[in-house]
This record gives sequence, C-alpha cells and structure tokens, in this order.
Amino acid sequence: MISRKEKIAPPEAPETLEAVERRAFLRWVSGMATTVSAVLISIPVLRAFVSPTLQAPAADAWVKVADDTALLDTGVPVRVDFVVSKDDAWIEARAMNSVWLYSEDGEKFKAYNGHCTHLGCGFTYNPASKTFICPCHRGEFDVKTGAVLAGPPPRALDELETQVRDSAVFVNFRDFRLGVAEKVEA
Ligand code: FES
Repeated sequence: MISRKEKIAPPEAPETLEAVERRAFLRWVSGMATTVSAVLISIPVLRAFVSPTLQAPAADAWVKVADDTALLDTGVPVRVDFVVSKDDAWIEARAMNSVWLYSEDGEKFKAYNGHCTHLGCGFTYNPASKTFICPCHRGEFDVKTGAVLAGPPPRALDELETQVRDSAVFVNFRDFRLGVAEKVEA
C-alpha cells in the first residue's frame, strides 16, 4: 500500500523524434570516430609489416672488379671475390660473391656470375682443357660463351653486364634462379 507521504513518480514522457534522431546521430559520429581511429592506427603498422616485402627491385648493383684493365691477363679468366650487402625485409645480409672476368683483347670484357647454374656451386678454371669445371656434378662450361659443354647444368653460365670506366672494370652483379633452363633473376 502506498502511504500518502510517498510521492509517485510521474510517468516518463515519450521520447520525441528529435531526441531519437540526436541519439542516432551521436551513435553514428562515435562509430565513424572509432573507424577513423582504427584506420589511422593500422596504416603505420601495416606499412611496417608490408613495405619491406613490397620494395622495388634492387637498383643496379655495379661492383668494381678490376682497377686497371692493363693489369688483367687476356685469354685467361680471372676470378674476383667481393661482398654484396642485401636488404632482405628487415635484415641487412652480407654475402660473399664472385664473378669470373674474361677478355680476349683487354678491351671488351665478359663476366659470369660465379655460381654454377645447376645448384650454385662455385666453379673453377681448368687451364688444361681451357674450360670452366664445376666440381659438384662435373658440369663443364665454355670460357668464351659460358655454354654448357657437359654435365647437368640446365643453361649456360649467367653472363653479367660489364662497363669499363677510366680503365676500371665494373660488373652489374645479379643472382639468378638455379636449376632452371630460363635465366630468371632470383
Ligand atoms: S652444381 Fe655445378 S654441376 Fe651441379
């Protein structure tokens, strides 16, 4: 039973259309703010994760392989070893590489990537046969053209672009996929 002193709360007034619309608008603004915040936060995070893997192909990697063409033997290939730095996603890797440099006249140079095109072993020059020999599976290559003479290598040696600048020889070093017939950059 309700005592007389107790006050009875007046019945709630029905919401006006304006109040309903205002609440819907505020909900929409709140949702938009949340979405925009999520997008703004995720952009740098995504960029940090994705951009290293979407980097443009490596720029030309010209490596000086000889200081003076006059000091190089003609008709005999010479191996030049060097270190190449490579950014692989977040890690800067350093790798020892080599090229074989060959010239018949001391003016025009041929350079071959030092990895055998079969499985990537380093090959050597055999003065007796005047050919390149790969010790891993007895691959054999022509010095002048890089063509396969024997063994399992699926393609010729990978020839690289060369330039002579002020008597120094530069090679545009590249690595290619191994064990396939096509010369495809790795
Ligand atoms: S890696 Fe050179 S012949 Fe196999």
